[in-house]
Amino acid sequence: MANRAKDAAARGCNRNARLKALYGKLEELDLAPYWAVQNAREDHEEDGQVLKGRRAQPFIWKYADIEPLLYEAAELITMDDSERRSIVLVNPGMAPVRATVSTLYTAYRLNDPREIMPPHRHSINAVRIGLTGTQNFTGVEGEPITFGPGDLVLTPADAWHNHGNHGDDFAVNVSVLDLPLSEVLNAASFEHDYREEEDGKLVSRCQQSARYSDDYSHKAYGYGGLKPRFLDHKRGTGWHSPMYVYRWSRTRELLESYRDHDGSPWDAIQVEYTNPVTGRTVYPTMTFFGQLLRPGERTLPQQQNASQVVFPFHGSGHSIIGGKRFDWEPFDAVAAPGGEWYEHVNGSNSEDAILFVVSDEPTLKTLGFYRRQGKTKSGEIVALD
Ligand SMILES: [Fe+2]
Repeated sequence: MANRAKDAAARGCNRNARLKALYGKLEELDLAPYWAVQNAREDHEEDGQVLKGRRAQPFIWKYADIEPLLYEAAELITMDDSERRSIVLVNPGMAPVRATVSTLYTAYRLNDPREIMPPHRHSINAVRIGLTGTQNFTGVEGEPITFGPGDLVLTPADAWHNHGNHGDDFAVNVSVLDLPLSEVLNAASFEHDYREEEDGKLVSRCQQSARYSDDYSHKAYGYGGLKPRFLDHKRGTGWHSPMYVYRWSRTRELLESYRDHDGSPWDAIQVEYTNPVTGRTVYPTMTFFGQLLRPGERTLPQQQNASQVVFPFHGSGHSIIGGKRFDWEPFDAVAAPGGEWYEHVNGSNSEDAILFVVSDEPTLKTLGFYRRQGKTKSGEIVALD
């Protein structure tokens, strides 16, 4: 007993010096003391340190801010300087990691008239959504796709693709990639040397030869409930939709046809893009929704651990995410990180508001992490899904 007291006294005497030495030794060996919290963290949440303090925040990027910068960049950076003339949305909670929410990466791009970039491919799944211009171009594995506002174009993992613009006007599009997720999984890789066979030899090419008709995706998959039996529906890795372009006109038409339906109190009239062969999500990592908020409509608050990037596409309104209000207009981008309560409001009593939403929900569902709950009108919290 006496010895114990003596030990404790001795420990107390030089505890600070010994702790300092211990922390130094741990750091030297790339180890960390779980019990010690960083002074910078006011919440003293030890588990938060596993995330190195990076956590996506609710945030909005205004297209009115981005658009002039796209034109400025287009003047200063030519294709000869860099093919990667995109502007990336970096969530302030994730910086310097280039992520819009923890799993998703978003970038806006302005293409000069008649500009076509050389093909490349990567292990990352990506989409392009047309914002302005009707002649945006993406070639995907030999399918030449020309697209306009609201059209969704897939460039799946490992699919060779090249982007550009066939029009005489500038064209803006936005891309969303599962890049931060694939980086966490150490699964991101890129290739730039595109080759095609010529006289029995593989030669480098800066353009993809068309191997499919420009209406291939629509012809093969645009007739819901009917599937041509003689086509090979395993395109690319087979883990994604074989339909490489989803036209906005069809999404708009479907939303419109449900205008008089009650819809969901938490999601209003929301439709999900699906793989026409399996009925599952377009990608195993990301899913996409079109969402109609009718004049004056306001969704009830909900909370889920899937992270979303919301692109208002038509109309104006606001969202409340994590208690903060974000006023939006067409082509803005809003980060709704998992874990935050959120609700969307159409600010007009006469005009529709339409949102295009990207979510990492399939990843969370596959891994068994997905949780969603909502508040009822009376404020009661109920499990959703
Ligand atoms: Fe790409």
